[in-house]
Amino acid sequence: MPDLNFTLRTLVHHLSDGEWHSGEDLGELIGVSRAAISKQLKQVASLGLKLETVKGRGYRLRKPLDLYDAQQLDQLLSLQARARLGERHIHYVIDSTNEFLMQRAREGAQVHAEVCLAEQQLAGRGRRGRQWHSPFAENVYLTLAWRFEDGVSAIEGLSLAVGVSVCAALEKLGFDAARLKWPNDLLVNGKKLGGVLVELAGDAVSDCLAVIGVGLNLHMSSDENDVGQPWASLDQLGFGVSKNVLVAAVLNELVDLLENYQEQGFSRYRDAWNERNAFAGQMVDLISASSSERGKLLGVNSSGALVMESIDGSEKIFIGGEVSLRKSK
Ligand code: BTN
Repeated sequence: MPDLNFTLRTLVHHLSDGEWHSGEDLGELIGVSRAAISKQLKQVASLGLKLETVKGRGYRLRKPLDLYDAQQLDQLLSLQARARLGERHIHYVIDSTNEFLMQRAREGAQVHAEVCLAEQQLAGRGRRGRQWHSPFAENVYLTLAWRFEDGVSAIEGLSLAVGVSVCAALEKLGFDAARLKWPNDLLVNGKKLGGVLVELAGDAVSDCLAVIGVGLNLHMSSDENDVGQPWASLDQLGFGVSKNVLVAAVLNELVDLLENYQEQGFSRYRDAWNERNAFAGQMVDLISASSSERGKLLGVNSSGALVMESIDGSEKIFIGGEVSLRKSK
C-alpha cells in the first residue's frame, strides 16, 4: 500500500502546528503556484482533516496534529528498548500496521523486534474480524513483531500480558484508570480505550513470529467518530499526553515483557492481570457462536484462561478463541 506522497507529507507536517499559513507560503513550500495549492489541500482534507480558510490569512487546521517524530521517539525509549528494537517503520497512511509486518515476514524478511507505526490505517484490524477505527493522527496504531524460537506454546497468554504491559505504561505516565476485559481489551468506566491483536506467522512448533498490534484511543473526540461501541480516549478523560511519549512508554514495557516471556510465561503476569480485571467478581455472560454461559467471573489462571463460577456452582475454564464476554444485565 503506497504511503502519502512527499508533497502531501510535507504539507501535512507544515500545517500540523494549527497556525495560519498563506497560500503563497504553502505554494512555495511544495513548489507549486498559489492557484495549484487548493488542489493539494483538497487531498489533505480527504484524509479527514478539517481545514479552515480565511481570506487574507490563508489556511489552518482546525486542531493541531500530534504526529510521530522518529527522533523524539528514539530519545524517549529506554536503553533496553533502544538496544533491542530493530527497524522502525513510520507511515502516514497504511492499510494495517499488523498487515505491514506480516507481509514483510511473508516476503522473507528476517523480521524481529521491528516496529510499525501509522498515523492512519485504512484497513485497521480488530479482534474477531472487526475493523479498527483509525482516523488520521488521532490515536496510536502500533505493531511490534517479535520472534520466538519455541513455537506457539512459548507464547501462551501473550496477548493478555500485552494488555497488562499497556496498562503498566499508562500507569507509569500517571494514568491508572485503565482496566482489562478478558482477554485483552482496555476499558475505562466500561468504555473501550484500546485493544490488542496478536497475529502469528511461521511455524507452530519452532520459529514463530508474534505480530503484536496495539490500538489506543488518544486524541479522538466524539464529533464524527462512530466506532459502533462505547469508547473513550485519553483526551476525553482529561489525560493529556503526546503520542511520542505514549508510544515510547508502551514500547519500553513491551520490550521488557518480550525479552523475558519465553522463560517466564504468563504466570508472571497473572496477578497483575487479575488486579486490573474490569469485571472481577461480577456476573458475566460468555458468548460463543453456538452458546452462552452465565457465571461469576473469578479471574484468569496461569495460562491466561478465564475462570468462571457457573450458576450451578462449578468452576469452568475458557480459553481464548471466539468467545466474547459481556457483563450480565
Ligand atoms: C481489538 O479488537 O480490540 C484489537 C484492536 C487492535 C488494533 C491495532 S491498531 C494497530 C494494529 N494494526 C491493526 O490492524 N490492528 C492493531
